[in-house]
Amino acid sequence: MIPENKIDQAIRELFDGFSFPDRPEGLYDPLRYMIEIGGKRIRPKLCLTTYGLYKDDLGPEILGPASALEVCHCFTLIHDDIMDGSPLRRGEPTVWKKWSPDTAILSGDAMLIDSYKRVAMAPPGVLGDALNLFSTTAAEVCEGQQFDMDFENVVRVPMEDYMKMIGLKTGVLIACSAKMGALIGGASGKDCANLYKYGYNLGLAFQVADDYLDAYGDEKVFGKPIGGDIVHNKKCWLTTRALDKAPDPLKIEEVANMLVDTQEDKERKIAAMMAVYKELEVGRDAQEEICRLTDKAMEYAAKVCSGVRYEQLRRFADKLIGRTR
Ligand code: IPE
Ligand code: IPE
Ligand code: MG
Ligand code: MG
Ligand code: MG
Repeated sequence: MIPENKIDQAIRELFDGFSFPDRPEGLYDPLRYMIEIGGKRIRPKLCLTTYGLYKDDLGPEILGPASALEVCHCFTLIHDDIMDGSPLRRGEPTVWKKWSPDTAILSGDAMLIDSYKRVAMAPPGVLGDALNLFSTTAAEVCEGQQFDMDFENVVRVPMEDYMKMIGLKTGVLIACSAKMGALIGGASGKDCANLYKYGYNLGLAFQVADDYLDAYGDEKVFGKPIGGDIVHNKKCWLTTRALDKAPDPLKIEEVANMLVDTQEDKERKIAAMMAVYKELEVGRDAQEEICRLTDKAMEYAAKVCSGVRYEQLRRFADKLIGRTR
């Protein structure tokens, strides 16, 4: 087993010592920037955690693939910020804002390619499975992102469809992270499958929390502008639930159609949607859903391990539920 402090230290060292080619700077500077501005790095951390359920030491065969998960995640963020028109990420300007959308497209592509080189560091015996898992996951994230965009133009998305969409855009990469660590650690197929489901349900909880924080978070801590989902009519868990519950869904549609030309317009729209959330108590519902999904994740963890190992997976989950950023 590998304790959390050792994992945290390995993650710090891994990303402090990260390098990309020097030139062309226009291509690689945004990659350096994304790694330097940090983030929570939950995906590589989860990968090392599940690896540590089976092994006692960390080496390049796991650190390479673990770093791939973060690099791939950063690629999805660079492109996501163009698609969502987001100006701020991790408290800093987004790549498309700081450079340009064209740079963000190409640097994002370079980051995805870089992540494959890192997965290729997996031990030969599991390399095929690792690459397969990673490629399937990356394709699913794109599918989720497409559904996410499609839903912007749909008035009412059933909760079931919404959960499938966030499962693809967010759940599968966290699931893949949990499974990757287990796979490279030498776990059985059954353990790998259960850890995948542990990660998947944590990923769903994580996205519901992200949606919650987009409305109720503190911008300085969250690092993204509060109300961005509301302004851009992004379907989020709160609006989906509100439309399910509302006696008069037309009122929500009216708010969704409010203009956002000026800063004042935006503030008015955010306030109007927040009033809807308050009236329908969807913030409280979201908190309950986050707990329900986390409990479900822990049921899968319990199929894999007990005692100190289970407790480590519990603490990982608890940190995600308690997230403020
Ligand atoms: C943001 O992911 C995108 C979502 C899946 C909600 P994170 O919240 O993990 O972002 P960073 O890496 O910590 O900035
Ligand atoms: C995150 O969805 C999904 C991916 C980046 C794949 P969001 O659009 O909610 O993420 P944030 O809020 O911009 O981090
Ligand atoms: Mg998005
Ligand atoms: Mg976004
Ligand atoms: Mg979000």
